[in-house]
Amino acid sequence: MEFNNIEEIAKFIVADGKGILAADESNPTCGKRFDSIGVDSTEENRRDYREMLFRAKGMKENIGGVILFDETIRQEAVDGTLLRDVISNQGALPGIKVDKGLQPIEDCPGETVTVGLDGLDERLKEYSKMGAKFTKWRAVINIGEDIPSDKCIDANMQALADYAYCAQQNGMVPIVEPEVLMDGDHIIDDCYKATDRSLRSLFTHLQKGGVNIKGTLLKPNMVTSGKNCANQAGIEEVAKKTLECLISNVPNELPGVTFLSGGQSDILATAHLDLMNKIGGFSWKLSFSYGRALQAPALKAWRGKPENIFISQDELSHRAKMNKLASLGQWQEELEDV
Ligand code: 13P
Repeated sequence: MEFNNIEEIAKFIVADGKGILAADESNPTCGKRFDSIGVDSTEENRRDYREMLFRAKGMKENIGGVILFDETIRQEAVDGTLLRDVISNQGALPGIKVDKGLQPIEDCPGETVTVGLDGLDERLKEYSKMGAKFTKWRAVINIGEDIPSDKCIDANMQALADYAYCAQQNGMVPIVEPEVLMDGDHIIDDCYKATDRSLRSLFTHLQKGGVNIKGTLLKPNMVTSGKNCANQAGIEEVAKKTLECLISNVPNELPGVTFLSGGQSDILATAHLDLMNKIGGFSWKLSFSYGRALQAPALKAWRGKPENIFISQDELSHRAKMNKLASLGQWQEELEDV
């Protein structure tokens, strides 16, 4: 696959309803996922699991890009093929998570800023040589008493803009991910406000920082109730409020919005995406960049056993297909039963 510029790369990733498989869990996070199925998080097990996912039939046609962790972009499959080449052979582009995680912010209890700008340019140059075509940086915004603060939002969105500029200078598409967490018992309107403030700040910083919006992808949370909120908003309210929030903040020239799933169940993440695409009224592609909502059924089916590989791959292929349909507004709940 040859591209003339980053705008073409961004368009390719979200073309025809395709989305992104987020497989960039850090080793500790991967450990937590593997704990849930009783598998040790060794380098070899992580390789086997990801090789299995990347070789699933449903990658073709449904997945335009895969986000990798540093370990995975360097790893080889059992037969010696680089895992990043396994992905390319499926017609998808390899991408890489480049932030270095969260650090507490002074005088802002409960809040963090994402770090990793030190040495970023050198890291990006190496990843680009390896064939990475896009990158990801995740900022985390917490909802709680008196938070998020302006200081937290501003520091995180400034870092996202600095990162995005650097990625583009190195010929790669930046995915900018400002994640307002679902943790907490807040009502959906609190999520709306925090998401609205974050997105407004993000696009102000991107524009000020000279980032080419046409060569950028946005990976936001949906506007939902907090995980422990007693009064959970329904699918229609989530879809409408998310769209309203995006439409008032996201420039028309952005090629794609690819949601994170953030702890939503796999079916709900698909249902919300589908309804938003059925409602319409926006110019960007509205697609997915799910981690848990794409992988959960495959992980559960696998349980670290080679004899479960095919059924596990079928689970991933099914979720990838369902989410592609949702990105086209063509999903129906009955399709889940087959
Ligand atoms: P989830 O879809 O599991 O939230 O993961 C997406 C991701 O990449 C988080 O950074």
